Amino acid sequence: MKIVVVMGSPRKLETLKVVQRFEEKLVAQCEVTFNYIFLKDVCIKPCLGCFICLEKGEEFCPQRDDDRVKIFDLLMNADGVIFASPNYSLQVTALMKNFLDRMAYVFHRPCFFHKAFIPIITQGVYGGEEIMKYLETLGSFWGFNVTKGVLVTTPPGVRLPAEETKIQRKITEGVHRFQKTLTGNPSPKPNIKKFIIFNLVCAFKPYGPKDRDYNYFKDKGWLEASYYYETKLPLIYRIIGTFVRTKFSKEGAKRQMLLSRLRKQDLER
Ligand SMILES: Cc1cc2nc3c(=O)[nH]c(=O)nc-3n(C[C@H](O)[C@H](O)[C@H](O)COP(=O)(O)O)c2cc1C
Repeated sequence: MKIVVVMGSPRKLETLKVVQRFEEKLVAQCEVTFNYIFLKDVCIKPCLGCFICLEKGEEFCPQRDDDRVKIFDLLMNADGVIFASPNYSLQVTALMKNFLDRMAYVFHRPCFFHKAFIPIITQGVYGGEEIMKYLETLGSFWGFNVTKGVLVTTPPGVRLPAEETKIQRKITEGVHRFQKTLTGNPSPKPNIKKFIIFNLVCAFKPYGPKDRDYNYFKDKGWLEASYYYETKLPLIYRIIGTFVRTKFSKEGAKRQMLLSRLRKQDLER
């Protein structure tokens, strides 16, 4: 199985060491190969905030002559993905955030289904928990099968044996979780929150035949589907899904009508 690591650290030190230990332990458990993408060594131009990827399509991005598509293709060909970053000022690094912004259209058009995902965060003291949750949420919106991340405190220099033991334990636990996701059902039943969000997104999606997101959802068959992919859903899910769609489709259509009226007025002005 192919694992792709997106490494957000601007240096090859603590975070890399943790991911390499993770790799060693996973390789000992199952047949995997690791491919590292060091964001510091590739070219990802900054997002200009033009909304073109969201509205027209990512292939029209004015910054497209960089390495973003190559990285996207590597992620699409992977069985498992690791986003690794140190905690810099209570967030992922600027390198990682820039990459995530350039990929933001995936929130609108999720595509990484059936792939395992885990964030790995290192920190000096405090704040990594929120970063880990942030990447877990992001991974879920992008379609990944998300595993609870690994957060390790890696004080620089000499460490106490107890600190070292704790780091090892956290990595080992993370490896077990990730392996379970990697080798488990690639099309798992979503939790109820994810399922409701799917139905809400579909209910609010019909923006019209020229809309990029609408066409993406339509082409995938999601506007009529029970979920993004075939999976066993309990009856209660189906009832909730129908209720959400019926209730919010009307609101979605009303909102659409209002918006197009406002757009027309705006053009006439
Ligand atoms: C600019 C900068 C900001 C940092 N901010 C935090 C922080 O907010 N919280 C924290 O616990 N550690 C912080 N750290 C410490 C790093 O997260 C920690 O040393 C990490 O393991 C470094 O990983 P690296 O060797 O891959 O860069 C910061 C380090 C740097 C360089």
